[in-house]
Amino acid sequence: MISKAGLGSRTEARSWIGAGRVSVNRRVIQDPDHWVDMERDKVLFDGKPLVKKEPIYLMLYKPKGYLTTYKDPENRPTVYDLLRDVGTFVVPVGRLDLDTSGLLLLTNDTQFAERIMNPEFHVAKRYLVKANRLLTDDELGRLRDGLELDDGPTRPATVKRIRDSEKYTHFEITITEGRNRQVRRMVEALGATVLKLVRVAIGPLGIGGLEVGKWRYLEPAERDRLGPQRNLARKASTRLT
Ligand code: URA
Repeated sequence: MISKAGLGSRTEARSWIGAGRVSVNRRVIQDPDHWVDMERDKVLFDGKPLVKKEPIYLMLYKPKGYLTTYKDPENRPTVYDLLRDVGTFVVPVGRLDLDTSGLLLLTNDTQFAERIMNPEFHVAKRYLVKANRLLTDDELGRLRDGLELDDGPTRPATVKRIRDSEKYTHFEITITEGRNRQVRRMVEALGATVLKLVRVAIGPLGIGGLEVGKWRYLEPAERDRLGPQRNLARKASTRLT
């Protein structure tokens, strides 16, 4: 509930709860796994009522070299360094690898995030790829039909050759899963590697003219096109974190 209220990450919420800064119905609760009923329980943080913030949805053009995590033990740049002016804690909707750039959605609506990430919903993610060599039509066909990875076969994908330079193939691929390093592993399964990977769209939402490293709020209609409204099956109870 603390992260839903936009105050901070779940990890931060755990430490605040442990430090005795949170009370539920006037009793200090130090168990981060305590459940609360958001409608009936009175939760105070440092003595002030916790109110659920309005949901926000934004898109970031993640640059290469930024991690999709909140904190990095090695102090490398993270996407949160680019979101300092957002003012509410948001979670990424899925991840992009350190070396991948492009469209990253972030929100404080955790149910929405879970839905978009759930492979059952088959939300399409479109990527531009530069391979380290020329790829044959047959090889692009293997990406399209699905190939075997160590965590199972990939679903059929949409693949379009964009252009070949003297040494490299540039192509577009749309996948409906979001497994770890999936596009890179698919290209590696062909015996090639990815030199550049950019996510350009999630479902109907494209990166458009957003500049690298910048973010903007989604328009209500853009958010609606991504999936059903929140509150459809919203549970009243949630973890205190
Ligand atoms: N596939 C990858 O290999 N990396 C990403 O960041 C996203 C999709």
